[in-house]
Amino acid sequence: METPIKIALSKGRIFKEALPLLAHAGIEPLDDPETSRKLILDTNQDAIKLVVIRAADVPTYVRYGAADLGIAGKDVLMEHGGDDLYEPLDLKIACCRMMVAGPENYIYNNINNNDDNFAFAQTGKRLKIATKYIKSTQRYFAEKGIQVEIIKLYGSMELGPIVGLSDLIVDLVDTGNTLKANGLAPLEHITNISSRLIVNKASMKMKDKVVKHLINSMSDAVNKLTALTTK
Ligand code: ATP
Ligand code: PRP
Repeated sequence: METPIKIALSKGRIFKEALPLLAHAGIEPLDDPETSRKLILDTNQDAIKLVVIRAADVPTYVRYGAADLGIAGKDVLMEHGGDDLYEPLDLKIACCRMMVAGPENYIYNNINNNDDNFAFAQTGKRLKIATKYIKSTQRYFAEKGIQVEIIKLYGSMELGPIVGLSDLIVDLVDTGNTLKANGLAPLEHITNISSRLIVNKASMKMKDKVVKHLINSMSDAVNKLTALTTK
């Protein structure tokens, strides 16, 4: 028997939202990652397995060929960077926005002080931004022509301004409820985020028939499901 095709994805939001797309492509997992401790899930097709890993690890598994395909948020892919993967399809799931957020109506000063073009906080100190999206934050502020001090966090960014760790945050926003619950507001839109199908470069060549068939059926599923939800 040929080695099965492996699709890497994270449990939770992405798994749940990917299920209808996978089902449309004829793939149904035999286990629920919320209740099973298995990391490789069998599906109704012997030739297809699902590898359940942390969201941020999906591009790495696909990059090194430990999985042939993957489903990852654009936020994660922007941090992963590089052109070491194919990204053939926007799955239009797990949609949200990457934003700068902070106290309502917060205005920072962008002062050119000869050497650096640093942004300054209302405290007069250099503007500090807490985020897990280092590269995206750096790029966004660099495009505005200003430098900021970036503080790397792994989650719960909303706490940053509350406890005085940072002035602002860069995080994902969907309903805005998390920001609101923590007394913060969305301030600047960086980019729209959705999940993408990604493919290992060698798998695209060596397993082209099955990989292309999967891409086409997932693409068909995206079109059908988005047509249904926009009706
Ligand atoms: P981990 O749980 O491993 O720390 P994570 O918290 O990023 O990772 P999820 O919360 O499942 O994992 O998010 C997975 C992806 O879903 C993100 O990379 C992003 O693309 C998208 N996402 C995150 N938050 C939201 C949200 N509130 N609404 C819609 N999509 C979101
Ligand atoms: C994400 C993000 C925000 C929240 C925004 O967190 O980091 O905290 O969603 O969504 P909202 O605008 O609808 O409130 P998530 O739910 O993924 O929690 P986690 O980062 O702890 O996994």
